[in-house]
Amino acid sequence: TKPRIFCPGGLRPVAVEQLARNDSIVLIGPPPEKASRAEILQLIRENQPIHGLVGYLNPVNDEVLDACGPELKVVSTPSVGFDHISVPSLASRSVRLGHSPSILNHAVAETCVLLVLATLRKWNGMQKALKSGDWSVNHIPLGNDLRHLNIGIIGLGRVGLECAYRLAPFGCVIRYTDIRPVPVATVTGQGSLEYVPGADLLAEKSDMLVVACDLNASTRGMVGERLLRKLRGGKGGWVVNVGRGPVVDQDALVRGLKEGWVQGAGLDVMDPEPLPPNHELLSLENAVLLPHQGTATVETRDSMALMCVENGIKGAHGQLMPAEIDMARYRK
Ligand code: GLV
Repeated sequence: TKPRIFCPGGLRPVAVEQLARNDSIVLIGPPPEKASRAEILQLIRENQPIHGLVGYLNPVNDEVLDACGPELKVVSTPSVGFDHISVPSLASRSVRLGHSPSILNHAVAETCVLLVLATLRKWNGMQKALKSGDWSVNHIPLGNDLRHLNIGIIGLGRVGLECAYRLAPFGCVIRYTDIRPVPVATVTGQGSLEYVPGADLLAEKSDMLVVACDLNASTRGMVGERLLRKLRGGKGGWVVNVGRGPVVDQDALVRGLKEGWVQGAGLDVMDPEPLPPNHELLSLENAVLLPHQGTATVETRDSMALMCVENGIKGAHGQLMPAEIDMARYRK
């Protein structure tokens, strides 16, 4: 019998069409865009057994896995991050996990450059001056040069490295920290990219921190008040986050932005998401924010969705997947 794949949504049309056309599987879903989580769960239960969950659902936890039933073989997400998925629960049920790394690196790195420049050039303040009709010198908030800025990247993985490659040509000095130095062969020919052991030391040497790591037990809350106060020799530095919101202690960041010991922040990711519309961050002129859309281009979202579909179909058939998480690392 054919594996039954449930698509909860979150996939570009080109990928849904591919699922629908594939006659080696039975496709269930996607539900209407406005369907609630309860309705989605109900639809999954009504269609048991489900062998593959292919698309974006947040969170994917025991409730979802129970709804799919005991024959579930694979969960495939159209994202590189999988902190919204209970990996130990998948591991204990021997459910495989596919994600969509690499094809989005450039898009997130482009978002990083956008946020770096918008933050340094005080985008919100400029917009305010523009719309006020008063373009006089006194009314325009001056920014700072990116050239010669000391940038410290937290997490030189696939995304962090692409951020470094794109920032280096602006003439900044790039340092990074990670669990270990990235093999030199990967970084030669791209200007200087100095490894610094530990985030504290990195902050001491940086004007701006760029967060590009994933969220896990060791990165949660890593960028807090102590680190933030070290930036730019204590004169108020900048933070850009294209990784995950909870890596930064957001309460500390908000205080820093208000009190001036953080000069500006450019955030694609926050905590929680979505940010409630009355959240204090939204009212701060020195915070440039995006609604977690670092990969939001047609090309990249199409690629991610297609990779998600391929992972899901292969996984449901018990075949090799293009990008599978090594569950052995997460089994308790
Ligand atoms: C984006 O945040 C992703 O995980 O793909």
